[in-house]
Amino acid sequence: MITLNVNGQPHDVDVAADTPLLWVLRDVLAMTGTKFGCGIAQCGACTVHVDGAPVRSCLLPVGTIGAKQITTIEGIGATPAGAKVQKAWLDLEVIQCGYCQSGQIMSAAALIATKATPDDADIDAAMAGNICRCGTYVRIRDAIKKAAEAA
Ligand code: FES
Ligand code: FES
Repeated sequence: MITLNVNGQPHDVDVAADTPLLWVLRDVLAMTGTKFGCGIAQCGACTVHVDGAPVRSCLLPVGTIGAKQITTIEGIGATPAGAKVQKAWLDLEVIQCGYCQSGQIMSAAALIATKATPDDADIDAAMAGNICRCGTYVRIRDAIKKAAEAA
């Protein structure tokens, strides 16, 4: 049995230690907001936070997480940065099909939480690993800047 701290709540899960976090979130804890895209840490759809840092949950074995705090798209709105990012996303109607957007929001929230006024280079560096097949990149950039202004 492994205990995971997800969105401020402990969860005991009966899974092998090498099970990727993404599978546990979606299939065991029924938190399906975090998406499976590539499974090889190349698309960013599965991004969650571990102790505030964005990580690709599709390759993160649950046995390596220990007591660290996991935050998912279901919980990010309870953080100051996450709330501002989600509001900016809605205000600017960033989302198209939506599949990549949980990961986009998680990466953006991690950026805003650590950098109050990100410039284009900061945004490029933070968001480079999040792919959007709908091409919402311009609106994502605008929304990050709007969220930063609000912060
Ligand atoms: S599903 Fe994890 S990076 Fe693509
Ligand atoms: S909004 Fe469709 S993949 Fe990004």
